[in-house]
Amino acid sequence: MCGIIGYIGNENAVPIILEGLKKLEYRGYDSAGIAVMNKDGFAVAKQKGRLSALEAFIESHPLTGFAGIGHTRWATHGEPSDINSHPHLGSRNKIAIVHNGIIENYRQLKERLEQRGITFVSQTDSEVIAQLAEYYYNGDIMDTVIRVVNALEGSYALGIMSLDEPDKLIAVKKDNPLIIGVSEKGNFIASDVPAVLAHTNQVFYLNDKEIAVVTGDSVQFYNTDREPLQKTLETVTWSADSAEKGGYEHFMLKEIMEQPQILQDTINSALSGGDNKLIIDSLDINRFNKIVITACGSAYNAGMVAKYVFEPLCRLPVEVELASEFRYKDAIIDQNTLVILVSQSGETADTIAAMREAKRKGAVTLSIVNVVGSTIARETDYTLYTLAGPEIAVATTKAFSAQLVLLYILAVRFAAKRGRISPPKEKQLLAAIASLPGKVATLLKQTDSIQKYASTCVGYKSIFFIGRNIDYAIAMEGSLKLKEISYIHSEAYAGGELKHGTISLVEEDTLVVAISCCERLYDKINSNVEQVISRGAKVLFIGNCIKATPNEKLAIIELPEANELFSPSLSVIVLQLFSYYVAANKGLDIDKPRNLAKSVTVE
Ligand code: AGP
Repeated sequence: MCGIIGYIGNENAVPIILEGLKKLEYRGYDSAGIAVMNKDGFAVAKQKGRLSALEAFIESHPLTGFAGIGHTRWATHGEPSDINSHPHLGSRNKIAIVHNGIIENYRQLKERLEQRGITFVSQTDSEVIAQLAEYYYNGDIMDTVIRVVNALEGSYALGIMSLDEPDKLIAVKKDNPLIIGVSEKGNFIASDVPAVLAHTNQVFYLNDKEIAVVTGDSVQFYNTDREPLQKTLETVTWSADSAEKGGYEHFMLKEIMEQPQILQDTINSALSGGDNKLIIDSLDINRFNKIVITACGSAYNAGMVAKYVFEPLCRLPVEVELASEFRYKDAIIDQNTLVILVSQSGETADTIAAMREAKRKGAVTLSIVNVVGSTIARETDYTLYTLAGPEIAVATTKAFSAQLVLLYILAVRFAAKRGRISPPKEKQLLAAIASLPGKVATLLKQTDSIQKYASTCVGYKSIFFIGRNIDYAIAMEGSLKLKEISYIHSEAYAGGELKHGTISLVEEDTLVVAISCCERLYDKINSNVEQVISRGAKVLFIGNCIKATPNEKLAIIELPEANELFSPSLSVIVLQLFSYYVAANKGLDIDKPRNLAKSVTVE
């Protein structure tokens, strides 16, 4: 939530910062702003709305500067408005800051500063940082930042500039991500790697309360006792192209289409060599008597699917918990519990809190993460990486699919280690997983029928998703995908639950999307389909074991044959495309749905 970027070097900072903000816009898009330093002082531009509004403003009110900071906002305190946009300046216009996070004690700090005659102009928590920094400033920005950091409670990633020390940018963070990019033409601070990829793949990952002093040709790190720190410069393997749309209208469609390759890469890393395989091979599953999977949103849905794979294969209880609930529930876990954290960003605040709670209780933690160097990746005992590359669309697709295959592989390998499946069975299951990229590629060549059907669905006020067993788990992801990008109300139900309440919502021309990849339960889901059709519903039936015949109430999308346990990797492709085309037909801003942000770094 919120993206920040800073640049200092020998080029005009304005276009560099605007380009960086474009790559960070997925983190928040209520408003955007930029502040640069030049010989006249700070030049600031801020605009409510999308980044394009800021660009248009700068076009008509040009500014230049050799160093600057920019911000794209997801509002927490104070409505989206020009005045609440970042950067924020102290009242003497000496210090400018951009902030991602929440300052929990901002009211107390604000009151103290107001008592000393300082006037605030915005309703944000962030302005207190700029005002406090200016209040403390004694000619030494490092000293000032340390005092500010010691006064703040909450979470923050900060970019700070002082007019009196124009040769440097300061970066510091706690519980929100920040990287430092290093290049020939200058140096960067940023919330995320895609913001700097066009300039460099050399980055430092900042840890909590480490302070980076960034000049045009150097970067130095200190702790809050002002002691110098040695950090390792890391090489990012993501390419600059991977953060571009590549000719697609939306990142979401591009990311859906990338899935065969991503599945292949992720499967290879876990089965054929590489760090994922080493970690999976080294895990001693026999020491655990329970697995807890905890995550948010789609990553939680991946955990729900995984439960239906782990339990029958490993015969080990698997609990799946929303991270936002797990963190407060006093979970019954100990050193014999394996807690699996699933997160694309590795920065989701609730998942981080759940991870820390699990560690506090002595559980062993394993994360499945996409972003290298992220907080969850760094703090868990073991990390498996999904090799999905940068995922820009707010609605996750390729990272979710990569999470699924890693979870399947873990389940199969654990089952073998526990002696629950024979070596030939293990081989057969892994071969079934290895066949998924080819099947997904086949499905992605047949998008026409999904697109055509979706074009008839834009008028629905509500759409239900049903399935049984593992099909129910993936129905949850289908429902989430639809609601987040198409704004159509949607719920997912286990088919058997319909008659316990939900069926009262079914009326003439309600749409029900039913999933059927569990052949042994086909008759069950089919009778749910008949029940809703006989009450007037239309049904989109998606599966690979459907025996019904299409008619005016029933449309069918056939999936390739697959082992039931791994079939969600196929049904989810249709569900993603269905949501995408419904939203596209509604003309919505698919990559940046309203009120959402890609990386939910606040509670
Ligand atoms: C998925 O489409 C959503 N954007 C959202 O539910 C997401 O999965 C959730 O916020 C978790 O994010 P994470 O994977 O980065 O932790």
